[in-house]
Amino acid sequence: MSTEQKGFATQQIHAGYNPKDHNDSIQVPIYQTTAFDLRTPERADKITSFQEVAFLYTRVGNPTNGVLEQRIAALDGAVAAVSLASGQAAVSYAILNAGEGGRVIAAKQIYGGTYEGYQSLFPYLGVQIDLVNDVNNLDEYRALIKPDTRAIYIETVSNPITAIADIEKIAALAHENGLPLIVDNTLATPYLFNPIKHGADIVVYSATKALSGHGAIIGGLILESGKFNYGAGKHPQFQRISHTLGNRSVAEAFPAFPFTARIRTLYLAQLGASLSPFNAYQILQGVETLNLRVQRQSDSALKIAQWLEQHPKVRKVNYAKLASSPFKALADKYLPKGIGGLLSFEFNGTQEEIYKFINAKEIFSYHANLGDARSLIINSPKNTHRELPESEQLIAGITPETIRLSIGLEDADDLINDLKQAFEKALL
Ligand SMILES: Cc1ncc(COP(=O)(O)O)c(C=O)c1O
Repeated sequence: MSTEQKGFATQQIHAGYNPKDHNDSIQVPIYQTTAFDLRTPERADKITSFQEVAFLYTRVGNPTNGVLEQRIAALDGAVAAVSLASGQAAVSYAILNAGEGGRVIAAKQIYGGTYEGYQSLFPYLGVQIDLVNDVNNLDEYRALIKPDTRAIYIETVSNPITAIADIEKIAALAHENGLPLIVDNTLATPYLFNPIKHGADIVVYSATKALSGHGAIIGGLILESGKFNYGAGKHPQFQRISHTLGNRSVAEAFPAFPFTARIRTLYLAQLGASLSPFNAYQILQGVETLNLRVQRQSDSALKIAQWLEQHPKVRKVNYAKLASSPFKALADKYLPKGIGGLLSFEFNGTQEEIYKFINAKEIFSYHANLGDARSLIINSPKNTHRELPESEQLIAGITPETIRLSIGLEDADDLINDLKQAFEKALL
């Protein structure tokens, strides 16, 4: 069944899969195999040099993963996608693939693990990261663009303060300077926001979060728009002749999707962070209910954010759909249905009270994931964003008293009552 032009709910269940191609199996089968029969040496010659596209070895591709890749590409309007073993593999591979031998400009409003890569890994692998303090300050980007700048990297909805990137303006600036815009769209998911429709060239996801949605697996994806020209001189890596590709460049071998093709044929082949087919299947299960879960999480998160805002022990709530948020206008422009289940707030009290508050929660689970069916709580400055020094945390909008909530699918009133009793116990 062709699902092109179908609605989001239809595509999240059907895109990229036809039972007729899989022994009429209603569920996407888990192709639990290391490798695929090459049949003849003549055919092997073509497949191993990527002259003929066929499954070869699960490190670089597998049919279960292939359905996931096609499904997420369809949901986001991408021409191609590649699945990876984690969201962090997706972030790192995307930055390295775009930035090789040059510089990438990135924003400080970012997941702590990504920030750690900026400081401790990418520069030593040949990619220097230049940081802007404010994701929406175009002058800061302009001042940092150098001849060897290769890309701009941002989060569409940032973790944990839900800063909303003014993506159309940032994409226009990137393109004026011959740079692709890479965005992490993990918090929004393709249900709330399709970055490619607003100018992004590359989209990365942690599928660990709301895409899979049940806190059961780790996974990631990189998608590409197919619109960016990597042949204009700033990205020589796409023109480099490769013996593996039959003495062709990746741009020649895969002109429609060179970015993800290079991730597959070089990064997955060499660095090997491949998603297991079982985890691809789990993500596909989650994606079937993505719209329902994310809408409910967004609605509950707004209700809880509004409740928190009037609580005397709360100094500030970070949730871009609140009328008080500096990001409300951008949230309404880009994410009219909601911004997702993640919010954070500043506890108006001591660290001792924060520890008592967290210890007192009953429904919320204390751990570092997000986008789960369960509601989660975490003191971000000491956990998910501990990689940022305190001065950098403050620039990114995270104070020592920031607490992050990931709202799940429980009754919103029960979650509010849980927070209420935890506040009471924290003050005893
Ligand atoms: C926005 C964002 N991107 C990427 C990642 C990394 O994903 P993973 O944990 O799947 O490696 C995370 C993890 O928390 C995240 O919040």
